[in-house]
Amino acid sequence: MSIFPAKGVWWNEPVEKSEVLWVSIAFLWAMIMFFMMPYWHFAGEQNLSNEAYKISPDAFVEKTENFAAKYTVREDAATGIPVVAPPAGSDVYIFGRTFEWWPMLELEQDKSYRFHISSADYMHGFSLLPENINLQIIPDYEMVLTITPTSSGEFSIVCNEFCGIGHHNMVGKIFVK
Ligand code: CUA
Repeated sequence: MSIFPAKGVWWNEPVEKSEVLWVSIAFLWAMIMFFMMPYWHFAGEQNLSNEAYKISPDAFVEKTENFAAKYTVREDAATGIPVVAPPAGSDVYIFGRTFEWWPMLELEQDKSYRFHISSADYMHGFSLLPENINLQIIPDYEMVLTITPTSSGEFSIVCNEFCGIGHHNMVGKIFVK
């Protein structure tokens, strides 16, 4: 038995009908999926369309500390982390560092906020539970996105990028009322 096809010019044979059909269906589906991306950008209700800007970790920490100094309403009893309640519709700043999200936030339901998220040291993952919001947070980059809480309650920010020995304890809080 030869490993070569019987006809030398096998690549020049007419394509079988069913194969043409499957390739067409696959191509069509790929195109539908491709155009779903821009479609969901506009039509998705909780769809993230974030921007990213370069910023040094020190500069971002300073911005966040200024933000917290202005709007802190109390301290979280368990961790001592400030809870910050910014005016509705304003910019909010939060950073991850080993092993906490700083500060905690208190937001109003159905009001939009411009989130600025970055890291003060290593790579962290910003995973907002139980929503399907998931961002990779990298030092030197400021992620900016608009978030509108549509339900009230207590939301956890879980770090989902392994960042060291206390990674599993790195849980932030957002309170929505
Ligand atoms: Cu931060 Cu894992």
